[in-house]
Amino acid sequence: MTKDLLKGLNEHLELEFRASHEYLAMSIWLAEHDLPGFATWMRKQSGDELLHAQRIINHLVERDQKVALPAIAAPPASWKSAEALCEHVLKNEQEVTASINELYAMAEKAKDRPGVVMLQWFVTEQMEEEAAARAVLGRIRLAGNTGVGLLMIDQELAGGSVPGVPVSPTNTA
Ligand code: FEO
Repeated sequence: MTKDLLKGLNEHLELEFRASHEYLAMSIWLAEHDLPGFATWMRKQSGDELLHAQRIINHLVERDQKVALPAIAAPPASWKSAEALCEHVLKNEQEVTASINELYAMAEKAKDRPGVVMLQWFVTEQMEEEAAARAVLGRIRLAGNTGVGLLMIDQELAGGSVPGVPVSPTNTA
């Protein structure tokens, strides 16, 4: 593995751990605000992000490469609204997607085939993660950020996944 790709993969770990930490904080805030469906969805997303980090760690360990775990900053503890929270989720996911795409290009350039195969999974995963965040945000904007509309979306999310968006294969990490 090239030094650049190793450095990039280690740096990417911070995005996955940070997302996990933030989504856990969001889940707590949502539960506190009587939105248990949203809270369940974000709690599941938080777990998925840990699996994403583990997937990269496993890849590095299997290839006898050095893993450098990052420090994770404390996440925000409150949000202006469910809509603001979902906007932040989408922004997070877009940032992760950009990083994955960059890593994928690096692996391709280096002809690092195991790296390309490992990162291919993330390319598909990110498409789904962005789609889910956009779908929930779109529904909030359609139904309104408060009241009955929000409660209806909350019920839809109670199963931990987003209606109409394929269930992520992340849990098989
Ligand atoms: Fe692992 Fe949601 O990005």
